[in-house]
Amino acid sequence: MIELAPSILSADFSRLGEEVRAAGEGGGTVIHVDIMDGHFVPNLTIGPPVVKSLRRATRLPLDCHLMIEHPDEFIPVFADAGADWISVHQEVCRHLNRTLHHIKDHGCLAGVVINPATPVETLAEVLDVVDYVLVMSVNPGFGAQPFIPSTLHKMRRLAEIRSQRGLNYRIEVDGGVALETVADVVRAGAEILVAGNAVFGNGDPSKNAAALLKAATEAALQRV
Ligand code: DX5
Ligand code: ZN
Repeated sequence: MIELAPSILSADFSRLGEEVRAAGEGGGTVIHVDIMDGHFVPNLTIGPPVVKSLRRATRLPLDCHLMIEHPDEFIPVFADAGADWISVHQEVCRHLNRTLHHIKDHGCLAGVVINPATPVETLAEVLDVVDYVLVMSVNPGFGAQPFIPSTLHKMRRLAEIRSQRGLNYRIEVDGGVALETVADVVRAGAEILVAGNAVFGNGDPSKNAAALLKAATEAALQRV
């Protein structure tokens, strides 16, 4: 099943509740929340208080993408604030298996994220632990960057490994997903589509989300 996860990074932060509502009306079923620490990525965004406010503003699951060093220290805080899904970057986790279990122990779905330069093979030993794998299709840190096509083979590979090993993680993609690129990522196997600029950048977020989801669903039909 294809799901759209609007990323609030490109939303108007002074009207977050309304923006999230509009994205949901357009068919978004997961709200993607980008947490950046200014160390792992060269940008700073939001923290637990905003997640707590979002929790009151929507019933949709909150997908917290932690682009931070030392994520273990913050997992309990984000879980308490209302995160439903928490993902951590492979590149910062020295004890990835432990961190993923830590997320699950706090009642959240656990995801692992790989940067464009990180191979899928680095995840071999945790694919049976995770609920989802997030493939970055831009270098994390900013919205509205161009999609990196060489990341597509990683979505295909993850779908292949999943069927070979009989696993059931979901495949999420993040970065540069827009009307021009959405069919490619869906055909490659992505199922949860994060989109920031394409939803909130220009015009009506509800209409933008609906158009993107329609294009994605059409591409998924071609896949089978
Ligand atoms: C980038 C973030 C993304 C970002 C995607 O570091 O992880 O979630 O919001 O934005 P777009 O869809 O504009 O590329
Ligand atoms: Zn993200």
